[in-house]
Amino acid sequence: MQIRPFGFSEADYRAYATVRGAAHPEAPLDMAQLQHTDRSRAPGDVLERFLIEQAGGVVGVLEFSTPYYDPRPGALEVRYHLCPEAQSLQDTLWAFLLERLAPHTPRELWAQVREDWPEYRFWVARGFTEVERRWESELDLAAFDPAPFIRPLPPGIALRPLSELPWQEEGFQQALYALETDLLLDVPSAEPITLWPFEVWQARTLNDPNLLPEGYFLALADQQLVGVSMLFQSNRPQTLRTGLTGVLQSHRRKGIALALKLRALEFARGYGARYIRTSNHQANRPMLALNEALGFVKEPAAVLLRLSPVPQRPG
Ligand SMILES: CC(C)(COP(=O)(O)OP(=O)(O)OC[C@H]1O[C@@H](n2cnc3c(N)ncnc32)[C@H](O)[C@@H]1OP(=O)(O)O)[C@@H](O)C(=O)NCCC(=O)NCCS
Repeated sequence: MQIRPFGFSEADYRAYATVRGAAHPEAPLDMAQLQHTDRSRAPGDVLERFLIEQAGGVVGVLEFSTPYYDPRPGALEVRYHLCPEAQSLQDTLWAFLLERLAPHTPRELWAQVREDWPEYRFWVARGFTEVERRWESELDLAAFDPAPFIRPLPPGIALRPLSELPWQEEGFQQALYALETDLLLDVPSAEPITLWPFEVWQARTLNDPNLLPEGYFLALADQQLVGVSMLFQSNRPQTLRTGLTGVLQSHRRKGIALALKLRALEFARGYGARYIRTSNHQANRPMLALNEALGFVKEPAAVLLRLSPVPQRPG
């Protein structure tokens, strides 16, 4: 077995995708998303990735990085995937990982994995413990009838896609950033999240190769942004992925989130998508209630695991 640094070349990205497809055919790698994530790292972010080779072929990938969505100081996120025939290499990887992590002196390690993946059992056996769970779920538009959900919009509320708003202008971007950060702070989670600074949000969100300005809907009250629900392209066939949905506290329980979701689903149908995917914290009863009512079907949970303190060597 050989472990070599990832070269960030097209060939290495393809090798990563092949490993991921072999390890988890139900959750293939979104290559465009990964490349965008790699390119839009913030200054000072840690990102070390390695490919694992055996008998001349790539059989695994291993990495640690500053958590992209919640860049908490002192935390590093770890990830690995191994082809089914190479699972026995896990223990060697753990020793290698601890050695490479040591110079960064992380206070804690995070791993995000599906509960039914071998990686979950591996991390738990190394002492990682559960922080929280998210449900991935999917709606099949072929079986979805919006009629029972349709009701008039509350007075004074208008829904507009980003494509019809001045989203290239910084003043508007600042307002959108303010809305989204407000809403993110309100998403139930085990611990408060670390927000992206405006410039980081701007580069990551507005340059996302999966961004669909026509499928990114905003609710406006007197020209003020009060709600959002956005769809992104996905690497899965006939599929769009939901980003953040949220409504300012001052405007909740008036049917605005429902109206935004219905508008997004209507867009998705016209776009030719059949499946809509979303991911919600298990503690987010309001959002889960809405998605359950619409008919989203849950898949195995994605679990956030944490290890603290970080051992110096394999125990
Ligand atoms: C979840 C959220 C978007 C709902 O927005 P909203 O505009 O108040 O929702 P709606 O008025 O359209 O409600 C539609 C349905 O959702 C469910 N729902 C909404 N809020 C709920 C709550 N607090 N408790 C239980 N069910 C709730 C209900 O079924 C509701 O229908 P009803 O009012 O006829 O009972 C809003 O609470 C929010 O922004 N939360 C913070 C951000 C967040 O967590 N977003 C999800 C991230 S994945």
